[in-house]
Amino acid sequence: MTLISQDITKAADFLNREEIIAIPTETVYGLAGNIYSEKAIKSVFEMKKRPLFNPLIVHIHDIAQLEELAEELPEKAKVLAAAFWPGPLTMILPKKENVPDLITAGHRTVAVRMPNHPVTLELLRSLKFPLAAPSANPFGCISPTTAFHVADYFHGELPMVLEGGPCEKGIESTIIGFEGDEVVLYRLGTISVEAIENVIGKVHIKNKKEDAPEAPGMLERHYAPQTPTFLENDINAAIAKFPGKRIGLLLFKERTDKAVSYQCVLSANGNLHEAAQKLYATLHQMDKMDLDVIIAERFPGVGLGKTINDRLERAAKS
Ligand code: TXA
Ligand code: MG
Repeated sequence: MTLISQDITKAADFLNREEIIAIPTETVYGLAGNIYSEKAIKSVFEMKKRPLFNPLIVHIHDIAQLEELAEELPEKAKVLAAAFWPGPLTMILPKKENVPDLITAGHRTVAVRMPNHPVTLELLRSLKFPLAAPSANPFGCISPTTAFHVADYFHGELPMVLEGGPCEKGIESTIIGFEGDEVVLYRLGTISVEAIENVIGKVHIKNKKEDAPEAPGMLERHYAPQTPTFLENDINAAIAKFPGKRIGLLLFKERTDKAVSYQCVLSANGNLHEAAQKLYATLHQMDKMDLDVIIAERFPGVGLGKTINDRLERAAKS
């Protein structure tokens, strides 16, 4: 049985005993363990079935903790931390010797973020160590945005999900690194490119696997439902390609009058934040509806629309 509970003391007990639990964040739920416990971190990789070459993000509650993790803090990293922490920004920093290689997959950098969720911040404050936490989904699957999604994925395997309600943002953090003077964006996320550039100036986007060997997690197929998924510009033309099939539509603002098995509009008033927040939960739901295909509408390529399209492209990759 997986316990779903708001009990922070109980959550800390598991973590202090080198066990792993799921934690809420403002982006998605994470599968968390003590960064210094080889046992816990190995369990994280095993439970997720994640390859060991794919490093983990370290979660902190206080910027002072960077002293134990990062060799140095580039000037621009300080500016970004001041602007976005706590929040959905992950920064890749040169790592200190004592950060275990298991966390960083042998890289000389460590990914760090300060999540903005009151329950997890309180949990982190009560612990003597930071938490490594990848998204709490089996490798390649849709990320979880509720405690129920996590429990559904890991049934009895996981002792506890710390309940923190539905995730407010619904899409993973934006990952930023520093290459010389250049600020590089490795993963589109909840903070839009425009919002980052407003603070720090031009960033170089290396969001694709081939551009970023130093960001090993950027897989072409990822965030994927089991149901075959397609990302399309013209929904009505796409529907016509699947006569007689059970079609589910994932739409931005407007319903279609075509007959389909199911259609979901993510934000009737065209709010990209609302659409992002509902995206994964809707994919989870549609994946359980016994549909033959999911057809998603391409979003406008601005702000969070870019991030949503990135996730849908990876979900649609066969
Ligand atoms: O919003 C989030 O970031 C969530 C919540 C739980 O915090 N976490 C998350 O973790 O999305 P995960 O493991 O699903 O994705 C982490 C990404 C992976 O693509 C990984 O390759 C990359 O971060 N990463 C981690 N450490 C890195 C490093 N040192 N250098 C480059 N990329 C790194
Ligand atoms: Mg993930």
